[in-house]
Amino acid sequence: MQTARIVRTRSELQSAIRQARQSGATIGFVPTMGALHDGHISLVKIAGDKSSFVVASIFVNPTQFAPGEDLDVYPRDEAGDVARLSAAGCDLVYCPSVEEMYPDGSVTNVRVEGMSDLLDGIYRPHFFYGVTTIVARLFIHVKPDVAVFGQKDYQQLQIIRRMVRDLGFGIEIIGGQTWRDDDGLAQSSRNAYLSEEERQRANAIFAALHRAACRIRIGVAIEEAVREARGHILAAGFSRLDYVSAVDPATLQYLPDGPLAEGQGCRLLAAAWMGSTRLIDNIGV
Ligand code: PAF
Repeated sequence: MQTARIVRTRSELQSAIRQARQSGATIGFVPTMGALHDGHISLVKIAGDKSSFVVASIFVNPTQFAPGEDLDVYPRDEAGDVARLSAAGCDLVYCPSVEEMYPDGSVTNVRVEGMSDLLDGIYRPHFFYGVTTIVARLFIHVKPDVAVFGQKDYQQLQIIRRMVRDLGFGIEIIGGQTWRDDDGLAQSSRNAYLSEEERQRANAIFAALHRAACRIRIGVAIEEAVREARGHILAAGFSRLDYVSAVDPATLQYLPDGPLAEGQGCRLLAAAWMGSTRLIDNIGV
């Protein structure tokens, strides 16, 4: 196994990518905040299938955390992450500093209006502005042909697709499937915060979404299926439920109540708190 090269500055990154391009490579990119799990590794493998030179970034982006969120304690393990990325076939790991990504006095942000203010955006109003700002900056540094994001963060994925379309980045965006533990819990770096006992109950969020998706598929009214899902999540011991919502898969607009209209797509998304850990998940209907 060849160890992926680590670069920390934009100029080192760009000279490595220039060299790869000169030898005919196409560039696949997987942005991450580190603390990698199998879900991230599956995205690296997709990038490897779609391109000949894979770049991953590890950057815990301060602008997507609000004051009081877990920025300071966010799990970090650069050496372990680089070993996993290398084993998955990643060629180059970009680990920039905050100053590299946000040069002194930097005031330019990217904001995808509307879609960023729904669902998770209601509860974490800063979040998607931080995500689109950093992803746009990373895209400008890496200039990939293809970038891969997990469907676990479904709203993030759709917002990034929209940003790429609106700003004409010319990058193909691929959504990798959510990686789940055997009991259905979506893999997430934040699962590390769950106690053993919380972990046992945490899969209820996916079980509830899965059941609601089946109910909608057989013609149950959307609001009824969503109400049942909310009840199941709270009954399983989640301490707080931010939302369970049924939305159009592309625009993220809320769907009207009643049975799902013929030909109408539907995505169910949920966010709930298990103790002090906030979990999100989603499923296509
Ligand atoms: O999904 C993530 O890990 C982050 O939001 C991302 C896309 C790497 C931006 O910081």
